[in-house]
Amino acid sequence: MTVQPFVHSIRPPDFIPETFDNHIVRRLSDMRGQFADEAAYERLAGGGDPVLYEVYEFLTPAVAGELLSGISILHSGVVGEEYFMTKGHFHEVLDTAEIYHCLSGRGVMMMETPEGRSAAVDLVPGTILYVPPRWAHRSVNVAGDSDLITFFAYPAHAGHDYATIESRGFRRLVLQGDRAPRTVDNPRWKE
Ligand code: F6R
Ligand code: ZN
Repeated sequence: MTVQPFVHSIRPPDFIPETFDNHIVRRLSDMRGQFADEAAYERLAGGGDPVLYEVYEFLTPAVAGELLSGISILHSGVVGEEYFMTKGHFHEVLDTAEIYHCLSGRGVMMMETPEGRSAAVDLVPGTILYVPPRWAHRSVNVAGDSDLITFFAYPAHAGHDYATIESRGFRRLVLQGDRAPRTVDNPRWKE
């Protein structure tokens, strides 16, 4: 199957694409077990099931050579001291990279390798982040009151390994600090 050239368009302030192929909505209930403060999670869940983030995808065939791109919109909020975040994943084809371009908001991309290296990069409008092959990645919205909006693109055959992060978490967490966000070791991280 050959893909014809195509365009999509986004505009500030909300950057919701006018056209897209797939819309993913992830709610608090999709993140059960991922936030460090379980009591805070249950309190928030008791009040409903808020949407944490939405992804608008521009699909292409899942084969090497194609790129899959889209817009990720991560809402602001906290579970206890921990900011709203994406599930995070390794790519199933581990040797595949990803590019993120921050369009709006303030965030941190938490990343780690299977070998135990860890990195946290600030995202502000204009930031272009290269996530190299092998690095798991999770977006965290550290703004108090605005969405974190990013454009992303990655090899369309990469696939997603969510299970590894679901079972052991990320090695580092991003928490609210007095003046600025702080990153700490995840006390519940499992080898
Ligand atoms: C794709 C990618 C992003 C994320 C999106 C939502 O490889 O990294 O498009 O999929 O930011 O995060 P997850 O997929 O972790 O729920
Ligand atoms: Zn990815």
